[in-house]
Amino acid sequence: SDNSRLIVVSNRTAVDPESRAGGLAVAVWDSLSKRGGTWIGWSGQLKDYPSSRPRLVEDGAVDFALLDLRKADYDDFYLGYANEVLWPTLHNRLDLAQFDNDSYPAYRRINRHFADCVMDRARDGDFVWVQDYHFFPLARDLRAKGRTGPIGFFLHIPFPAPEIFRAIPDAPDLIQAIAHYDLIGLQTAGDVKNLRDTLIEELGGVALDDDCVRIGEHIVRLRHCPIGIDVDAFRDEVNSEPAQQAVARLSQFLDGRKLMLGVDRMDYSKGLPQRFEAISRLFDTYPDTHGTVNFTQIAPPSRSRVDEYKNLRKRIDRLCGRINGSNGDLDWLPIRYLARGYKREELAGIYRLAKVCLVTPLQDGMNLVAKEYVAAQDADDPGVLVLSKFAGAARQMGDAVIVNPHDLDGTAAAIKMALDMPLAERQRRWQSLYDGIRREDINWWRARYFA
Ligand code: G6P
Repeated sequence: SDNSRLIVVSNRTAVDPESRAGGLAVAVWDSLSKRGGTWIGWSGQLKDYPSSRPRLVEDGAVDFALLDLRKADYDDFYLGYANEVLWPTLHNRLDLAQFDNDSYPAYRRINRHFADCVMDRARDGDFVWVQDYHFFPLARDLRAKGRTGPIGFFLHIPFPAPEIFRAIPDAPDLIQAIAHYDLIGLQTAGDVKNLRDTLIEELGGVALDDDCVRIGEHIVRLRHCPIGIDVDAFRDEVNSEPAQQAVARLSQFLDGRKLMLGVDRMDYSKGLPQRFEAISRLFDTYPDTHGTVNFTQIAPPSRSRVDEYKNLRKRIDRLCGRINGSNGDLDWLPIRYLARGYKREELAGIYRLAKVCLVTPLQDGMNLVAKEYVAAQDADDPGVLVLSKFAGAARQMGDAVIVNPHDLDGTAAAIKMALDMPLAERQRRWQSLYDGIRREDINWWRARYFA
């Protein structure tokens, strides 16, 4: 209704424009800043004695309420449980999950703490919309504190097959908590199926139809809502001053060579070692690429206190050195990676210059880089998107060059095909992708969820 407000809860917010890293902060900002509402999240600050009251910040139509965390809670809630248990498991990497770290109590406690903050700010008719795996238990906590109004959830990352999820020692409690939401949005139909099957198998839920599961007296509605971007806003960034400056500097570096680009948080789900190996195969197999192309990977470090992220970084350092050592020449740097972030405006310019964009995760909820790359292209001379079939985006973007990132030779051949693709085919594929990201954009996503 008209005076129902939207209260969003997520760990990372978009309060600081520089820190809008990752799909969630960008997409939720694009959505919430239009509709208006309250956004409750972590302040990004660690304090010895954090106040239980949030810091309030207003930005246009959005009021932020930001909570500080204690260092020990950051270690257990964020690094330990969210990023060493849930993140690897939900990305199908049981081999990387750290189940023996006793961080679940802190995860539960921080969820209750955020629930208190929601209780202070939400009226009964408001819609509380919880985002991502940091806050699976929040609905149950809110119900325990007496909230009666609707509570929704959106999962930005994949939901795995039931047998994977059930490997988490606390899976029975987690899934019981998740069942307290009224509406759960997921990125793909496969994610919906996995969550539905888990609710049925673990809790004896009864499927009412494809989208609804009844657990006891409560009905959870599941909805497949692939997240999108604000296409026009991103496309406009290409003309911004920072974008133009980035284009000028990068063109000077490229010196007429074709740019192949990757942009990802430095995360093991993104398939960076496999991508680098595929590029190495490209140089081995197609000598005409020597001296005529450059692969640049932008990889802002993320969660760098977690061991697996440290290992990944070392591995990429080595790979990059090896590939340049074996292929480089006096006047050619085949591959480079920049372990830092760039502003959104700058990225728009960088995307525009890239002839080929490599989005080749081993597993990814959606991947908005794929959509932003398409949005930034020149209609007359568009670049080619090479996209992993394991990114949620591949379900909507079938006109990209679809690859299996585990297949190094196949990926190398696909990149070669992308580099050589005739203009007419590039235009046809781009037009179809562009029409798709416009039709199923960020407004479509929000409307579909709230429908
Ligand atoms: C993904 C997750 C987000 C997360 C982002 C950045 O997009 O879905 O919830 O905020 O990665 O990761 P970080 O741990 O730095 O917040």
